[in-house]
Amino acid sequence: MEYGYFDDRNREYVITNPKTPVKWINYVGTLAFGGLIDHTGGALICAGDPALNRITRYLALLPGSEFKGQTLYLRIREGSRYRVFSPFFVPTLDPYDRYECHVGLGYVRIVSEFYGLRANVTLFVPPGEARLLEDIRITNIAGRPLEVDAVPVVEYTHPDALKQITNADWVPQTMQSKAYPEAGGLLILAQYPFMLRDTRINYLTSNRPVSSFESDRRRFLGDNEYGTWARPLSLQAAELGCYEAQRGDNIAALLHHLGTLAPGETRRLITQLGQAPSVEAARPGIAAYRDEARVDRAFAELAASWERYLSSLQVETPDPAMDRMLNIHNPRQCHTTFQWSRYLSLYQTGYGERGIGFRDSAQDAMGVLAGLPQEAKELLRRLLSVQRAGGSAMHQFNPLTMQASVGDAAERPDLPQYYSDDHLWIVLAVCAYLKETGDLAFLDEPVPYYERGRDGRPLATGSVRHHLEAAVEFTRGDLGAHGLPLLGFADWNDTVNLRAGAESLFTAHLYGRALLELADLLRHLGETVAAGKYLAWYEEMKARVNACAWDGAWYIRYFDADGTPLGSHANAQGQIYANAQSWAVLSGFATPERARRAMDSLYEWLNTPCGIKLSMPGFNGFDPARGGITTYPPGAKENGGIFLHANPWAIIAEALLGNGDRAYAYYAQINPAARNDQIDTFECEPWVYPQNILGDEHPQFGLARNSWLTGTASWAYQAGTQYILGLQPTYAGLRIDPCLPAAWAGYRARRRFRGATYEIEVANPEHVSRGVARLAVDGRPLQGNVVPAFADGATHHVEVTMGQPA
Ligand code: GLC
Repeated sequence: MEYGYFDDRNREYVITNPKTPVKWINYVGTLAFGGLIDHTGGALICAGDPALNRITRYLALLPGSEFKGQTLYLRIREGSRYRVFSPFFVPTLDPYDRYECHVGLGYVRIVSEFYGLRANVTLFVPPGEARLLEDIRITNIAGRPLEVDAVPVVEYTHPDALKQITNADWVPQTMQSKAYPEAGGLLILAQYPFMLRDTRINYLTSNRPVSSFESDRRRFLGDNEYGTWARPLSLQAAELGCYEAQRGDNIAALLHHLGTLAPGETRRLITQLGQAPSVEAARPGIAAYRDEARVDRAFAELAASWERYLSSLQVETPDPAMDRMLNIHNPRQCHTTFQWSRYLSLYQTGYGERGIGFRDSAQDAMGVLAGLPQEAKELLRRLLSVQRAGGSAMHQFNPLTMQASVGDAAERPDLPQYYSDDHLWIVLAVCAYLKETGDLAFLDEPVPYYERGRDGRPLATGSVRHHLEAAVEFTRGDLGAHGLPLLGFADWNDTVNLRAGAESLFTAHLYGRALLELADLLRHLGETVAAGKYLAWYEEMKARVNACAWDGAWYIRYFDADGTPLGSHANAQGQIYANAQSWAVLSGFATPERARRAMDSLYEWLNTPCGIKLSMPGFNGFDPARGGITTYPPGAKENGGIFLHANPWAIIAEALLGNGDRAYAYYAQINPAARNDQIDTFECEPWVYPQNILGDEHPQFGLARNSWLTGTASWAYQAGTQYILGLQPTYAGLRIDPCLPAAWAGYRARRRFRGATYEIEVANPEHVSRGVARLAVDGRPLQGNVVPAFADGATHHVEVTMGQPA
């Protein structure tokens, strides 16, 4: 069964059947103002922080048929009654003649036909604005005149999203609405919890006269709420009650008489759901966006901003599904994870238990460096500011208050209260930023460490460079019995929580990679002595890893506090872990023979047609001594599931080893855009990577969940563009080092890099996977494979011929 199709020309996916197996969503706006819109028009909108400043009440846990956050009702007068329905299908569930949800870049457009009315509704947040626009066009296609009303409805939540759920007295006692009638019948319906009345209000308004309104849910649904969202009783009356709620469940419903539409006639109505310090402060912006031309301009600006972002790289390969991801949907997903980290989705519902993840966002930043370098730098600064002076990092932070926490570790006070990997990711992220931009001055910028004195001021500040050095120094000083890094509460795998004293091979490898990055940077700065120091630390760790962690056919993943290995043939469960193999290659710790053997073991034991499993076999029963991993049945999530985030690392490892066929096969087998005909198994959106797919130990093998907010986005993008296509930013310029499937005759790319544009043509006449035989820039041959950063605003032609280097 297919639920829709890709429209690459318009950079959309078009859903044609609203009864998708789970809700499919898209994102609008940014963390500052925006959120998610589901494919039946439900909306979860927040400003600045999903936990502390949430606007609409979207309950993801309700069934898909339920009203969530907002909808639009249309009604047609039929004699003395009204036919009431939603052009979004939900919540009225009327039979439709046509239903399309266009999932676009920063917008959702629903085009539907019911009862002789065509609705064409575009929802988007104009760049930089704190308002969600709903641009509604209603056309009479009935062949006879229809008298039509339009009633947009929003349900508000208390801004403290969790309090809304946990305190059913305080919250309703404080929620209030107030109507501000304006000239010409226009209306602003404001809403606020009492304590914010004078500082921050939400509002719903429109650009057409409002004949009546409702702000109380009970009155809107009617009959003490035995009227329903599917059949609100108030919509059978000519007008709404114009009640200004003094408490209770606040909504905003605005009744517009669109009049009698002649056959073929269209009416346009534009609504704005926004937030402002006061109604007075909101008025000028509201007035501006009542103008249709202004709204059209805003939509064009939105398109232009996405075009700017995506134009940092466009590719043309022999695989259309890969092009579709690399050119459109994967960078869009990177944009989304960059904004919302793991904070706000249908699976990570933003009630405050998470916030912005340190390791997550460091990796997310690496996915948007070419398209959003300034924004990425800003996020890096924020991350660095929650690093502790000792070098380790807080696990997550709240983006409005910058209050940080140790994450899930807090639930286990018996275990170490830090993650051993967090701080090391920032080394990779900052170095990647420097290689992309050449902005070496960033290294000298002072950034405070997290610890604060009684006066709230930072106790210590260090340059960005100092932060990076502190990060590797922390790990160098935090070692266990084998001289490997201690696990802390966990490493990248949040769910393996071993006793204090356990050691992590993942963190050892990540540390190795971070040391290589630092050494590379220092060499570029001409500081060979300092670079040498880090290389010596690297060799030291490499030797330890190879002395104790080779299990015969693969690398071990952990040592428990008593020295027992995990990820060894000696274990009954968790015998082999994907990351222990791929990261042994990414760190460069694996010797060439071991690297090949480890990656072949990964292929043999962990690969499936739906992707690579994180480990196998799964634990079968809860075991507090192993931790979170044993809360899952075998085959789910980190317990032997296909945890997609780890798949691109295997792609990168194979590419580093020169195995282009396998790197590409791993890439292609998880490409969601190639899954459009398997949705009844896969279930999630086919245009984004999900976090997890059930593995083959689970009866529902192939079922995806936790779509959108996953490190898979950034790493699949890096794996595809930097390792398969081989377009790698370096300090000296753009290195071109493809690792292609041998069948490919080449590919083309257009890359913006440090103020110049590179038109790259790669030819692979001998059908090799690796190796650049010749490279010419603007017709002139170049030694090596690093194209200089011309920074001249011009376009340069780069011709690459693969084969044996001359
Ligand atoms: C989740 C977390 C991420 C962690 C991963 C593996 O995706 O957000 O931080 O690395 O799970 O446990």
